[in-house]
Amino acid sequence: MPKSLLNLTVKKYGPDYIHKKIYDGKVFIFNNSNYINNIINIVEQYFIEIFGIEIKTFLCDKDNLKFPEKEKLFLKFQNKIKLCRNISLNFLKFLNELGLSSELVFMDQSSLRYSPQKGFRPFGKLIPTPPHRDTWASNIFGQINFWFPIHDVSPNNSIYIVPKYFKKKIENNSKQWCYETFKKSINYPSAPYTKIKIKDHDKLHIKIQKGQVLCFSGHHLHGSHQNDKKRINLETRIVYKSKLNSDFKPINNDSYGKTKKKNWFKNVISNKYLD
Ligand SMILES: [Fe+2]
Repeated sequence: MPKSLLNLTVKKYGPDYIHKKIYDGKVFIFNNSNYINNIINIVEQYFIEIFGIEIKTFLCDKDNLKFPEKEKLFLKFQNKIKLCRNISLNFLKFLNELGLSSELVFMDQSSLRYSPQKGFRPFGKLIPTPPHRDTWASNIFGQINFWFPIHDVSPNNSIYIVPKYFKKKIENNSKQWCYETFKKSINYPSAPYTKIKIKDHDKLHIKIQKGQVLCFSGHHLHGSHQNDKKRINLETRIVYKSKLNSDFKPINNDSYGKTKKKNWFKNVISNKYLD
């Protein structure tokens, strides 16, 4: 396993342990959380409710649905996940298992991502993203990302991280990118990105299976792999408002956006936005 990837069983580590390592660029994969399994079960049930078939049938193209119908149902499915309080509460419990306190967790909505086979059309506006830091969009440098597939995926159909750029300046279009334009447009990127060529050996290819959760700093350069298989995954981002956040969060070298998107992050219990 690469040095920067730590594979850990879910247990109470204390928020400082994880927080400090994430802010130092370490990448975690967490295993064996019943709360993550609960979330996957909820997602699978919603899929059956909306599509009338199981996810595995959809993934191997054994359904009889045409593209427009599939897209319509998928957007409905995506919206249902975003609004599901049960998913947010299970995710919060998973964070509690790691030692994070609920009152300090500010969470973004859970986003369900569909990545088609290479060369195929995506559903809706979420096209697979070129390499980017999430912090180019949020301007919140303490942001922590979580990413997990809801079925087994291969390393060349998951995401990749490029650790060598964690503390380096990268050319990107965060100065021009606008969130409001993204919300109103089709074919507009969901985040600012870079056009730099990344060598394959600099990429940390993430080997992750159903039930595991990837956790990394939103400041890491990362992107999406596509191959000849479809992929469905869940992702969310949090800000953990402990003292470490202000003292140790990554330093901005290259984000030129003007607004901090504090209203993307809400406390699940109090419903208060990040201030
Ligand atoms: Fe991202």
